[in-house]
Order: sequence, then structure tokens, then C-alpha cells
Amino acid sequence: MRAVVHDHHGDPRQVLRLAQLPPVGAPGPGEVSIRVTVRPAHPGDLLGITGGGGPAGSAGKPRIPGFDGAGVVVAVGRDVVDLQPGQRVAFFPVPGAWAEHVIASASAVVPVPDEIDDSTAALMLVNPLTMQMLLRALDEAWAGTPRPFVQTAAGSSVGRLIAAAAERHDFPLVNLVRSAAGAGALTERFPSLTTISTSEPDWPARMRDALGEPASVVLDAVGGALATNLLAGLADGGSLISYGRLSGSSVSLGATDVVGRELRTRGVSIGRWGRLDAELRREDVAFALATAQARPDLFGVAASYDLADFANAVDEVGRPGKVGTVLLTSPTEQPA
Ligand SMILES: NC(=O)c1ccc[n+]([C@@H]2O[C@H](COP(=O)([O-])OP(=O)(O)OC[C@H]3O[C@@H](n4cnc5c(N)ncnc54)[C@H](OP(=O)(O)O)[C@@H]3O)[C@@H](O)[C@H]2O)c1
Repeated sequence: MRAVVHDHHGDPRQVLRLAQLPPVGAPGPGEVSIRVTVRPAHPGDLLGITGGGGPAGSAGKPRIPGFDGAGVVVAVGRDVVDLQPGQRVAFFPVPGAWAEHVIASASAVVPVPDEIDDSTAALMLVNPLTMQMLLRALDEAWAGTPRPFVQTAAGSSVGRLIAAAAERHDFPLVNLVRSAAGAGALTERFPSLTTISTSEPDWPARMRDALGEPASVVLDAVGGALATNLLAGLADGGSLISYGRLSGSSVSLGATDVVGRELRTRGVSIGRWGRLDAELRREDVAFALATAQARPDLFGVAASYDLADFANAVDEVGRPGKVGTVLLTSPTEQPA
């Protein structure tokens, strides 16, 4: 089977290669084998490839990136009762999704209804589940009472899900993006919310006016100087909820603010979703399925590339102004 792999961590453009690997074999008890047709290339996947340098993979085998995608069940192992060969499924978390086949724990596999297309199926788990985790963190920071808040990188795929949730629940959200064009596009998409570009010199004043009071929470995927400034502008006792580092830089915590004004910081990571209570995970997956059925427009595709064209896909993930997620595809009809 074909797979995109890397032997070392580093710049994805330099370390990734296309490999022919042996077939994945038969699924064990509680597992299924899946022929993967579509998988996302998330910004987080690129971070996982970059890593901290050094070797990738283990036991002399290269590492295959990717944790989510969609495809068709090829075979089911012993004890798997609710999945059948030929069934369309989405999966997360399953390491090695940038390959044509994966072996997945049945607990990480979700049947896909006919009305959800393959691209939406491939996108319907990670970002909505992240959004659910962010909304729970928001609720904890608010102690149950919504107050004005800000999100950065609001035009991202996750940011658009948050914006849609804010519209749905009437949350007082101000969106921040980094370009005037991005602000225009997001305002058109979410007219009930204020969207401000940080490329405008007066953005801090405009943000304060739109919020009406200091922000209670900053939901941040950018880090660096932007998040550091927003942290300093929080209301006393306010929270910075950090879930990404798109700027490539970390937030600086000013001890005077954090201690004297009792500011709080916390991280949210989809990597910890698998540790949540099983009932909460079931609710999150049900939410993701319902969102994919009701709002396929929230699962935008920036561009699709065959696995072999991974280099262009990687470039597209970092292209300023792209809207939606980049997909890596494999032929839909193929021998197992
Ligand atoms: N913690 C978690 O578990 C988790 C899970 C999922 C995603 N994430 C994170 O969430 C973020 C968004 O992911 P996504 O898949 O939704 O992204 P995406 O759809 O690929 O969109 C990326 C967005 O980030 C903006 N952006 C890129 N660099 C920026 C910078 N330096 N300053 C400000 N904005 C910048 C882009 O703005 P332009 O339109 O101006 O180019 C674009 O709107 C990423 O940081 C990702 O790692 C975290």
C-alpha cells in the first residue's frame, strides 16, 4: 500500500516521502481494517511532523502522520459486532491515517450515514470534537454565565465552528483575523458577529468598543505577541484558553498581571479527548454527526490532492487566505 511517511522530524517539505509499505494484515480482536479514501492534512499534523527534530517512527519503521479520516471497512476482527465489511466510516483517533489502509480500534470508528459525503465524513470528527472541548473550557471559565469574549484565527475551520456556536447560543463573541480580506469574508459568513482585522492599527480600540467591557476569555490559536497583548487586556480573573500556536511563538505571561489580577491560562488538546468519560465522548460524536448532517457548509475543503501529491498539500495548508481544510485522497476503487 502507498503511504506518506517520515524517518525524522523536521520541515515537512524535506522529511516527508511517499513509500510502498506491506499490507496492514488482518484486524485483531476489537479492531477493523479500513481502506482510507480521504484524510485531512491539519495544521496540527504538520506540527507532529516537525516535532522537536530527531528520529520519527519506532522499531526501525518510519512514522505515518495523520489521526483521522474516512473510508470503507475491509474486514472486522473478533468481537466487533456493529461494523461490517463494505460500510462507510469515519475514524479518530487512529495513528497512520496518511496511508491507504489502517487498522483501527472499533471504538474509534463511526459509521457514516449515506447523506454525508466522504469529504465531510473525513472532516466531521477532529474539529467538532475540539470545538466541544473548547466550549466546555469556555463554560468553566465563565462559571456558567456567558460574558463577552474574543477568538483569534477566527477564519480557521475550528474558528468557524466556534462562530457558528456563538450565533446558535447567542454568545457575545468578537472574532479576530489577520487580514482585511479575511474580516470581510467572515463578516459575510457570520453577519451577527463583529469581526475585526488585526492588520488595522486601531483594532484594539475597535475590539474594546465591540466587547463593551474587557474580555472574559480569549480563545487563542495564534500565541506570540497577539495572545500576549490579549492576555494583558483580559478582565480581572479572565482566562486565556490556548489551543494552537499558529504564529510559531509562545505567549509571554506577565507575572504582575497573572498574579495581581488573578488571570488564568489553560490549554485544550484534542490529544486528550480519548481520555474523557465514555458517555461524554458518545455525546461529542453524536454532536459531530448531527453537525455534519445539518451544516455541511461548516466543513469547507480548501483543496484536495492525491497522497502522492503531498508536497503541494503541505504548501496549501500554510497558504495565507485559504478557507477550509486540505484533504489527501486515495482512489475510491482499489484492491485491499
Ligand atoms: N488543541 C487542539 O486540540 C487543536 C485541534 C484542532 C486544531 N487546533 C489548532 O487550531 C488552529 C486552527 O486549525 P484549523 O485546522 O481550523 O486551521 P485552518 O482551517 O487551516 O485555518 C488556519 C487559520 O489560521 C490563520 N492563521 C495562520 N497563521 C496565522 C497567524 N500567524 N496569525 C493569525 N492567524 C493565522 C489563517 O488565517 P488567514 O486566513 O489570514 O490565512 C487561517 O484562518 C491551529 O492552530 C490548529 O493547530 C488545535
